[in-house]
Amino acid sequence: MPNDAKPASQGISLAPGEKKFLHALKGGLQKVPPIWLMRQAGRYLPEYREVRATTEGFLDLCFTPEKACEVTLQPIRRYGFDAAILFSDILVIPWALGQGLRFVEGEGPKLDALADEKALAALADPTKAGEALAPIGETVAKLSASLPRETALIGFAGAPWTVATYMIEGGSSRDFTATKRWAHMAPEAFGKLIDMIVEATVSYLSVQIEAGAEAIQLFDSWAGALDAASFTRWVTEPNRAVVDRIKARHPDIPIIGFPRAAGMNLYGYVEAAGVDAVSLDQMMPLDLIRHTVQPNIPVQGNLDPVLLLTGGTALDSAVDAILENLSAGPFVFNLGHGIMKETPPEHVTRLVERIRAR
Ligand code: CP3
Repeated sequence: MPNDAKPASQGISLAPGEKKFLHALKGGLQKVPPIWLMRQAGRYLPEYREVRATTEGFLDLCFTPEKACEVTLQPIRRYGFDAAILFSDILVIPWALGQGLRFVEGEGPKLDALADEKALAALADPTKAGEALAPIGETVAKLSASLPRETALIGFAGAPWTVATYMIEGGSSRDFTATKRWAHMAPEAFGKLIDMIVEATVSYLSVQIEAGAEAIQLFDSWAGALDAASFTRWVTEPNRAVVDRIKARHPDIPIIGFPRAAGMNLYGYVEAAGVDAVSLDQMMPLDLIRHTVQPNIPVQGNLDPVLLLTGGTALDSAVDAILENLSAGPFVFNLGHGIMKETPPEHVTRLVERIRAR
């Protein structure tokens, strides 16, 4: 087992001034792993709710650089995370493609669902997505100028499959039937939609990187909905397309893939998606991660967000198990999915203290 008993001190050591998070993505080992949490800015924080109440809607918050910058910084001030993630949303890509989008209180996102291939002709030029999303580039530039020296800045986008599910289902979905049926019935037309999303995503991520994002995460939150052959075609290959196109322009930018609930499909993804690190959900067993994933690629994850919400000794022992299994290899502590809005902020304090007490 390649990296099993290697003490952290023997790994590549942190250069003076190097950010802990970026070091881990390069495969560096650290006794205390870097930490950040998916959805670390958001409704569980009273200071977020305060800023949110001053905006017309959620999208206005994403498109107002001063406010988006402020809510990105809030969890950094409170907890001193090793990385900040740009405050935006994966659904700004459908918006930039001209699809109607609104966020309904208590119901989540609503989009004017794409009915069929004909609807693709009405979408905007994907190569212009970055221009349409220029305010988000401004947020990144502001963040880059205001973050503490040791804090890395993460940019992000949804991966093509996950974004396509929202565009076709018209919102969140339980089983993704319309999207899967379209992909099976008319793979060429579906492939055209995926290609448009790839194009728009490359344009948008380039804006983020040029404004100062130091790493990128691709959220494929609904990767777990697909059978193995479809997973290769609609998850792994489009992730690869985004990675290749971004790396052609920015060869040194680290990219984290998050093929949530991939299960056994994770192995093919790690081999072929071209990502530098992989973010794992809580369903993935720790001993498998340690012995079969981490020897090949730095990993991030994978605490169940419900354990963070629960707190107490249940949280403590789950955190200890993750650290015992994964902190001897290249590792970034995170959740298996985003923070839940009912999470008490003190539980996050407890989590960060426990990790840093090592
Ligand atoms: O702190 C951060 O992580 C940065 C910001 C961020 C948001 N969304 C803010 C947000 C990030 C990285 C996302 C990603 C995102 N958005 C994903 C991928 C990760 C995942 O959770 O699987 C997905 C699938 C979305 C789509 C989306 N956006 C949904 C389904 C919703 C509604 C959720 C809900 O609980 O209502 C959103 C809205 C959204 N995005 C909120 C936030 C803070 C809540 C809206 C509000 O404050 O009114």
